[in-house]
Amino acid sequence: PTGRLADARGRPLRDLRISVTDRCNFRCNYCMPKEVFHRDYPYLPHGALLRFEEITRLARLFLAHGVRKIRLTGGEPLLRRNLEELVAQLAQLRTVDGLAPELTLTTNGALLARKARALKDAGLGRVTVSLDALDDAVFRRMNDVDFPVAQVLHGIEAAHAAGLSQVKVNMVVKRGSNDQEVLPMARHFRGTGSTLRFIEYMDVGATNGWRMDEVLPSAELIERLRAELPLVALEPGAPAETAARWGYADAAGRHDPALGEVGVISSVTRPFCHACNRARLSTEGRLYLCLFATQGYDLRALLRGGASDAAIASAIAPIWQGRTDRYSELRSSLPADASQGARRVEMSYIGG
Ligand code: GTP
Ligand code: 5AD
Ligand code: SF4
Ligand code: SF4
Repeated sequence: PTGRLADARGRPLRDLRISVTDRCNFRCNYCMPKEVFHRDYPYLPHGALLRFEEITRLARLFLAHGVRKIRLTGGEPLLRRNLEELVAQLAQLRTVDGLAPELTLTTNGALLARKARALKDAGLGRVTVSLDALDDAVFRRMNDVDFPVAQVLHGIEAAHAAGLSQVKVNMVVKRGSNDQEVLPMARHFRGTGSTLRFIEYMDVGATNGWRMDEVLPSAELIERLRAELPLVALEPGAPAETAARWGYADAAGRHDPALGEVGVISSVTRPFCHACNRARLSTEGRLYLCLFATQGYDLRALLRGGASDAAIASAIAPIWQGRTDRYSELRSSLPADASQGARRVEMSYIGG
């Protein structure tokens, strides 16, 4: 491997998102609606999950192909027992440039207060917490398991206290469900060192009953915010960053770093496929090239079939090189009831 893989549209492989469990203790209706993810839902049996050693081995091979950033997701990754042991293994790995990979985690925050210190000590770089409302009643309705918001806020504080200083907070905005929380969330996190990002509700998976009229376009959201809190557009961060950044302005109209910034992730109204450098590894070790993919490539079969590192690395290369995915850019030209939606894999399985 040379670390210089490019796909069929010239996009490099830089970001590996690993789902460590397909289970979650929340039932956000845009992700794991209760009617589908009920008590008898056929989650993966334990033996189907990649073991930590298997994940680490694959991660090493992906790093050799140019990956620089690894994100642990789920489901809810903190439900995976002893996750800090996996973090410790991943923290030992190096990129082709000999650097430590950026190591991050996306969590709903429910167990974060308990886990933040151990994760930091194991080598986690930063954490992103999903939080869809500040109002307790609205939050309980969004997570649909009556989970109190105070405990997630406590988890965010614990992350800061443990030295996971760059906390991001992700809010999925559904018009008519939690869009009244946009402003209170912005006010709450302004100046706290946590960067709030608003995510357009996406038609991911096959079960959430997505409708365009429940999407709050980011342009409209920014107008709402600007009416109350002065904002200035900021330069994009990394070239393939998902979020467009807006800084809070001071009285003179300049970005005040002490007040921080917000981001908007507009995968519906302004898709960012052109620069998409993300691969996803599902809980059972299938490689997916797009969040909206309908099929993946079974890497676990190679691992468990005794393939050598070289053989697995050479299997990965042509998969990425043949990649043409750009679902979000094509969405608007697809039939409204895109029948393939029914076959799409769930986000909790593929890794958000
Ligand atoms: P940072 O490195 O912290 O900026 O993370 P990120 O924005 O890459 O990932 P995060 O897990 O915070 O995801 C934020 C939102 O963007 C989630 O709703 C993701 O599902 C969505 N998202 C992340 N990557 C992609 C992608 O490749 N395509 C689409 N359509 N959405 C994505
Ligand atoms: N649309 C947008 N974001 C979603 N997430 C889960 N499902 C959806 C959806 N349908 C978010 C989670 C988490 C991130 C990984 O993806 O809330 O913040
Ligand atoms: Fe769980 Fe996150 Fe999905 Fe909500 S969005 S159900 S917290 S995995
Ligand atoms: Fe990447 Fe697919 Fe998302 Fe486009 S829709 S940004 S190709 S994961």
